[in-house]
Amino acid sequence: MGRKKISIIGAGFVGATAAHWAAEKELGDVVLVDILEGIPQGKALDLFEASPVEGFDAKVVGTNGYEETKDSDVVIITSGVPRKPGMSREDLLEVNKKIIESVVAQVVEKSPKAMLILVTNPLDTMTYLAVKKSGFPKQRVIGMAGILDTARFKAFIALELDVSVEDIQTLLLGGHGDEMVPLPRYTTISGIPLSQLLPKERIDRLVDRTRKGGGEIVNLLKTGSAFYAPSAAAVQMTEAILKDKKRILPCCVYLDGEYGLKDICFGVPIKLGAAGVESIIELQLTEEERALVSKSAASVKKSIAELKL
Ligand code: APR
Repeated sequence: MGRKKISIIGAGFVGATAAHWAAEKELGDVVLVDILEGIPQGKALDLFEASPVEGFDAKVVGTNGYEETKDSDVVIITSGVPRKPGMSREDLLEVNKKIIESVVAQVVEKSPKAMLILVTNPLDTMTYLAVKKSGFPKQRVIGMAGILDTARFKAFIALELDVSVEDIQTLLLGGHGDEMVPLPRYTTISGIPLSQLLPKERIDRLVDRTRKGGGEIVNLLKTGSAFYAPSAAAVQMTEAILKDKKRILPCCVYLDGEYGLKDICFGVPIKLGAAGVESIIELQLTEEERALVSKSAASVKKSIAELKL
């Protein structure tokens, strides 16, 4: 029985850091692909040379082609341009559309049975593009956003309450934009509802910081966007799939009537296991939450329309 194969397209900040997390967790062998000559090869060799120090067994190779990605179990797609200060994720649509189209075609040809995890922004729109261009069943094309956005919310709550990040459970719905819908009503700390530990105005402040969490990092870095938390989130999805963990996680998936939405990729809680999206969980929402979800869905629909497919 051989090791699993994880290919990561784009060996930039997110891709290379995802390779790091995946190899160190021994999820499988890792193939790093980029158009830049030498970069994926150099980063892969450097990471492999760390393995005797850290004590993980995973081959890591870098390449400019797709031959090495053949029969991947999971392909994480991070290729594309990140935002700079003052840009919205939507500003990346034109340039990243072309990149994702060409990458997906080459990935699918070599790994027709793979699970695709999209990270490139604008995330919901690029996931939709990958669903359409891959021709894969909708269960096998999943966007990474909700885990990152809930991780930010959890991190801010942990700081505010001075408690372990491990004890916080939460959910989030919607697109990966500033109109995402964190759900304080579905947030607990070791089973204790968040509303019993924090007053509403402080919760509202944390929700607002979560919505703008990506921009906060972009404004600090100035030359690019977040990569530690996004790559960790993509690798958590990879682990759920490869180990058939059947985790309940917020992910961006193709909806066909769920939440009253059709022909859209949108963030919802799913069961994630070896078969990919094993089920979509429909939450009971208040009027107010439903209105926020509709607003977020309208933004995502508008962005998808700009693909002009
Ligand atoms: N095929 C393979 N790799 C490509 C292609 C392509 N067609 N086009 C670009 N790339 C590579 C670039 O050469 C670069 O190395 O994608 C990499 C992107 O890396 P960074 O510029 O460091 O960007 P990163 O921070 O990793 O973000 C990548 O993820 O979170 C999102 O918004 C972010 O869309 C962005 C993506």
